[in-house]
Amino acid sequence: MPFEVTFNRQEPASVSFKSIRLFLLLIFAASLFAIPLPAQSPKEASAFRGNPVHSTLADPSVEKKVEALLRQMTLEEKIGQLVQYSVGTPTGPGTGRSDYQEMVVKGQVGSLFNLESAKATNEFQHQAVEKSRLHIPLLIGLDVIHGYRTVFPVPLGLAATWDPQIVEAASRLAAQEASASGIRWTFSPMVDIARDPRWGRIVEGAGEDPYLGSVMARAYVRGYQGKSLSAPDSIAACAKHYVGYGAAEGGRDYNSTEIPEHNLREVYLPPFYAALDEGGASVMSAFNSLNGVPASANPFTLTEVLRNEWKFPGMVVSDWTSIFELIQHGIANDGKTAAWKAFTAGVDMDMESNLYHEHLADLFKSGKITQAQLDEAVRRVLRVKFALGLFDEPYTDESRENHGPLPAESLQLARAAAERSFVLLKNDFVATRPVLPLASDIHSVALIGPAADDAANMLGNWSGRGNPQDVVTLKTALSQKLGAERIKYAVGGEYLAASDAQIQEGVAAARASDIAILALGENTPEMTGEAGSRAHPVLPGRQQELLEKVCATGKPVVLLLFSGRPLVLPWAFAHVPAVVEVWSPGVQAGPAIVRTLFGEATPSGKLTVSWPRATGQIPIYYNALNTGRPAGNRDLTHPPKNGDERFTSRYIDEQNAPQFPFGFGLSYTNFTYSGPEISANKLSAKMLQAELRENPAAAKPALTVAANVSNTGKTAADEVVQLYVRLQGTSVEEPVRKLRGFQRVSLAPGESKKVTFALGADAFALWNINNEYTVEQSLVHIWVSPDSSRGEPVELEITD
Ligand code: NOJ
Repeated sequence: MPFEVTFNRQEPASVSFKSIRLFLLLIFAASLFAIPLPAQSPKEASAFRGNPVHSTLADPSVEKKVEALLRQMTLEEKIGQLVQYSVGTPTGPGTGRSDYQEMVVKGQVGSLFNLESAKATNEFQHQAVEKSRLHIPLLIGLDVIHGYRTVFPVPLGLAATWDPQIVEAASRLAAQEASASGIRWTFSPMVDIARDPRWGRIVEGAGEDPYLGSVMARAYVRGYQGKSLSAPDSIAACAKHYVGYGAAEGGRDYNSTEIPEHNLREVYLPPFYAALDEGGASVMSAFNSLNGVPASANPFTLTEVLRNEWKFPGMVVSDWTSIFELIQHGIANDGKTAAWKAFTAGVDMDMESNLYHEHLADLFKSGKITQAQLDEAVRRVLRVKFALGLFDEPYTDESRENHGPLPAESLQLARAAAERSFVLLKNDFVATRPVLPLASDIHSVALIGPAADDAANMLGNWSGRGNPQDVVTLKTALSQKLGAERIKYAVGGEYLAASDAQIQEGVAAARASDIAILALGENTPEMTGEAGSRAHPVLPGRQQELLEKVCATGKPVVLLLFSGRPLVLPWAFAHVPAVVEVWSPGVQAGPAIVRTLFGEATPSGKLTVSWPRATGQIPIYYNALNTGRPAGNRDLTHPPKNGDERFTSRYIDEQNAPQFPFGFGLSYTNFTYSGPEISANKLSAKMLQAELRENPAAAKPALTVAANVSNTGKTAADEVVQLYVRLQGTSVEEPVRKLRGFQRVSLAPGESKKVTFALGADAFALWNINNEYTVEQSLVHIWVSPDSSRGEPVELEITD
């Protein structure tokens, strides 16, 4: 649909060079401060802050125990610690092995995963602890991604809350539930930056921004690992997929990636650094080829960066058969070489390839791997096991596992997380008022669409031990709210197919009602996540047709999008008056949606990915470079009419701007912003560099930035206030905007709040032309704004 102007979005404002000098303003009275900036990954600075979890991993008493055990281990037992298999439902192509019990007893297995009950995990643990020679417990893992039994919104939805506290609370609950089943290691958080909604796994991460991704990475780690990793209800986190996996070319899963070192350090590495700096105990090496060297055999990322620069003391596990896949990548012609390359590059544990089991002993005996290398890998695994307290308490108390209904507090948390994750994309006036919220005395509602009563789909991709029976669907919750007699329900077809009769039934339901609620989207367990890439990220099947036919009835329509990615739907955004992205909302899908529809909850989620208006715009992301011929404020809604309009960085048949920018989300109220004001209009690069070297993570405020945000409407609501910077005159090109802070603020009707951000040196830091993390002399623009495309900046100078 080229050039149909579907929503009143602006091009990202091009930065004016005019100098706006503001007076020195010292802001002491601020009551709210920014979430501390996550550290980047400075090469020479001391890499870790020594927080409690890290001190557990690096604890000298743990080291003593590790060494004592290591001394007793045979070669076979050492290799055993480096081997992992999936025992339950496979999450990839298997090795064909099934003799795990036998192997465990012989000490040939360090870790098992995909077991999902206390009984099953305890059974294996008894074999390992009671029957193996050295009684070394197993590390039992699972993909606990957005909840275990209490399933929360998918991670892209959780990120849209812009609420690290709720993400931490959700992860804490997930850890409590999973550990009750004997699972002490989760393959989460997935911290891959993703700028391509064709890639199915965009749903598993926090979106396109390294700053937000880092804040979320920390929140997950804190939640999973708790105050102490050794508490029986803590689980070890695993930052994945290291690294660059989200940049899969063409958005096709497992595809190659080409990421120059500068970009790697600016965009892809920071969330990993943040997860590990927060104490994350493990890392998973990715499937993708990175600059021609597969990530699971990449010495630069796995050893140079992770170990030499960051001093990471924890363990690295491969992704599922990613060691075996080195053969397909073409850097090994046999399993032995694949094992050797992965191991020497820095992968400690082999997930499912069976190649360490088969070849490490030979490689060791032939001198291809050294005693020191072998011992170091084993140390890293044992360190995590000791830190988890597994040697003291290997078993889970089976009575902790909940087989009954989910407790009220868990449901409340799941509902709150879902409500905060919803992003109101459009809410036009129909007659005298916006379509949403709906009046509760509404006479009749048509509820149409495959997602309206689909419990399994609400759980999304990677749903742990989520049970559709725990889900309250939209249909159930709406019936509870309005009474079944006021609802005309029609499924309207399946996700991928519909009969004419189903479509007609949907249209008839709309005709016979005051309003139509359409619950459309993707069948997320199948169409998103791993191996869920789509070349056509649109409404699948005949859903677009259903939508258009229902709209043609002339009834007001609310479109609820259940999806794991932004869908390219220009027609919908032009013609449907109200659209809400609800992702896969989890077990409390229905109540959260109904409360939002009727205004008991006000939408406050904001997008963490730019929403394309055309598939051809992908990859599209807000923190792009300006180019030498930026389109600026040119009107791009028509083809170029002259050379000036043409020879600019643009499409001749589509706008540059996304449908909705990063950070965008509407509310049932309106907010106005004034300011920002800054505490100084000059800072010294030397001073900031010194601060960065001394303690990059301390975020000692070099500058405070304050803006007044007012709720000018009649509804109490939360607003996510965002702070962006742009640096100019630097040795490398910097993005047109970079997120450097955000706060979720609650405002009563008519209320104003001064929102203050305290920025440390790393707010202005960049990886320079020599790939050094530093602060350079520059001109800085700073915005405090409701999304990445609006607001007026203030100017700051960073002098030499
Ligand atoms: C493959 C996936 O890429 C990864 O994310 C997951 O943790 C493992 N399989 C284990 O299920």
